[in-house]
Amino acid sequence: MNKMSDKKRYLITAALPYANGPLHIGHLAGAYLSADIFARHLRLLGKEVAFICGSDEHGAAITMRAKKEGTTPQAIIDTNHGIIKDSFEKLGVSFDIYDRTSSKLHHKTASDFFTTLHEKGAFEEETSEQYYDEENNQFLADRYIVGTCPKCDHEEAYGDQCENCGSTLSPLELKNPTSKLSGNTPILKTTKHWYLPLNKEEGWLKDWIVDGKGRSEAWKKNVLGQAKSWLDSGLQPRAITRDIDWGIPVPLEGAEGKVLYVWFDAPIGYISATKKWAEENNKNWEDYWKSDDSSLIHFLGKDNIVFHSIIFPSMLKLHGDYILPTNVPANEFMNLEGQKLSTSRNWAVWVHEYLEDLPNYQDELRHTIIKYMPETKDSEFTWASYKEVVDADLVGNFANFINRVVVLTNKYFDGKVPDFVANAQVKDSKGENSTAGAELKVLEVKLKTLSEYISTYNFRSAQQTLLEISTIGNQFLQTNEPWKVFKKDKEAVKPVMNIALQIISALSVVCRPFIPFASDKMRTLLNLKAIEDNGEWKDLLDILAEGKPIIENEHQIGKPIHLFKRIPEEVINSQIEKLKNNQPKTINYEPVKKAIDFEDFMKIDLRVGTIIEAVKVKKSKKLLELKVALGFEERTIVSGIAEFYKPEDIIGQQVVVVVNLAPKKLRGVMSQGMVLMAENEEGKLDFVHPSHDFGNGFIVK
Ligand code: MF3
Ligand code: ZN
Repeated sequence: MNKMSDKKRYLITAALPYANGPLHIGHLAGAYLSADIFARHLRLLGKEVAFICGSDEHGAAITMRAKKEGTTPQAIIDTNHGIIKDSFEKLGVSFDIYDRTSSKLHHKTASDFFTTLHEKGAFEEETSEQYYDEENNQFLADRYIVGTCPKCDHEEAYGDQCENCGSTLSPLELKNPTSKLSGNTPILKTTKHWYLPLNKEEGWLKDWIVDGKGRSEAWKKNVLGQAKSWLDSGLQPRAITRDIDWGIPVPLEGAEGKVLYVWFDAPIGYISATKKWAEENNKNWEDYWKSDDSSLIHFLGKDNIVFHSIIFPSMLKLHGDYILPTNVPANEFMNLEGQKLSTSRNWAVWVHEYLEDLPNYQDELRHTIIKYMPETKDSEFTWASYKEVVDADLVGNFANFINRVVVLTNKYFDGKVPDFVANAQVKDSKGENSTAGAELKVLEVKLKTLSEYISTYNFRSAQQTLLEISTIGNQFLQTNEPWKVFKKDKEAVKPVMNIALQIISALSVVCRPFIPFASDKMRTLLNLKAIEDNGEWKDLLDILAEGKPIIENEHQIGKPIHLFKRIPEEVINSQIEKLKNNQPKTINYEPVKKAIDFEDFMKIDLRVGTIIEAVKVKKSKKLLELKVALGFEERTIVSGIAEFYKPEDIIGQQVVVVVNLAPKKLRGVMSQGMVLMAENEEGKLDFVHPSHDFGNGFIVK
């Protein structure tokens, strides 16, 4: 069960990212780069591939973000879907489709899926008590409840999950539950929901997951571990409907106002997206989802394991006809500069920002993330290591080898590939006597090893093998010393350069899953046919198996170019700086003033007023002359706000005025009082005002 199950067709999914924010490097490390390597490799092997992804646009994560930003869920998903899709494209993540779950087709597909299961009697209905926010008159989605994790005591666990220990939770398990909407302790109130009785699926799930019955591939340890621990603690019925107003309506009478749970609809998104892709590309989606010739593989991060190994397979099985996943390769988490990545704390390298700051450095980011991919345990990204591995692996090793070969071929043979002669004498990379034919075999073995690593989800080892090929190439040049031999014996240099050229032509294909942009450049550089991701790797192996060379005799290559450059120190310094600047600043204010008596405070007469006129004070950059209506009278007050607000923007605003301040002339204008303002650490000023509309003249105390 260790081998890749060799199928005709592959349906590869990468977890649908929530459209509640942009992508960061942790997402890439979790699911998307491994999936992309895998999909690209299979295409190069000539397999039929559908590589599916899209935005997950329902659920409380989206509504919460909208609330926080004072906008609508629709606006949130539109913005983020655009940013995410663009980031993936620019980074060369080769999805065949990047869809979205707000699409009509998805709503229908998910709704029908629910109906089918409902008609089969797969669900249980249950009325239960759920947390309800009395102030906002609504049931609280899991994400709207925070409290203390019962497993690790983390104080900001969500109702569905603790991000600290990774446990999946139910809101009722949380200690000290608090509503994120109002900050109040929620009450319990009854509501009806539909449940998927996972407990009834335990039998076959155990056979399948634990005993490997009906499974053709081994699963990763971390995935098996999590899935088993779920099974060991006993599966519970799981609610698949929710009382929120954003999502796919539950297609049943008596379920008005309820929507499908986001984790019910999202994985069905893989199906909807496949349908859409099939429609647009003249394919049959059912070949991918319902045929034993197909292999379904879900790539994801560790927080998604239970959904893809237990819940979604149960849904597919209950529905009938669908194949089950062959594998669920999940990665662990990647940290950044010693801390957990966090969207809310803005501790992240945002992919769209990276691509703006460092356009044309896509491969460099891909390479570093693959190098530190959290395949078996959590890992870490640092800017220092980014520079280190780019400089060493891509510049010092990979690009250097290619450059040497291209330079020497141009220098000695006018850029024409010298003839391949199988039994020509060369030294191998260790300096032992060998032949050109034998060295091609060495290459063939490496390419197979590389392929095998990718097929078995060992992406770091695969990348290591790729780099070994160029290391061997560099050593091969070193032991054969063409630059010395050429002067005495031009003929002897021909097989050496020929082999070196065979290696770089092979590299232009097999580096593609990892560093696709370099692959394209190498094809141009070598004047070889652009890769169409259609069996080119397989062709290589077939040619090598026959003992034939890959690049033809006399083929004319191009002039040297630099594939990769060293990362300047400034680049990483400014990225580190940026990360720090994104953190909330610690404020350094003057010490608090001396205590005053209550009587002293009471001497100040503070009133609510409304700005009814505002004009700039002549010859002053800072001052505005305001007319403030105070109810009992109107006053002229000079205020130092001109640098921050335009007069027209502040008219109509309510402010708080010190009305018994002795009048004072400022720049020729008599100011009859003072408007209260807040000042931040940069000296920016803003008015202080009551949070609700008060009449003018009211007392502030
Ligand atoms: N949006 C989820 C997350 O980011 C993943 C959804 S995967 C799917 O954690 F299978 F539901 F699509
Ligand atoms: Zn916890």
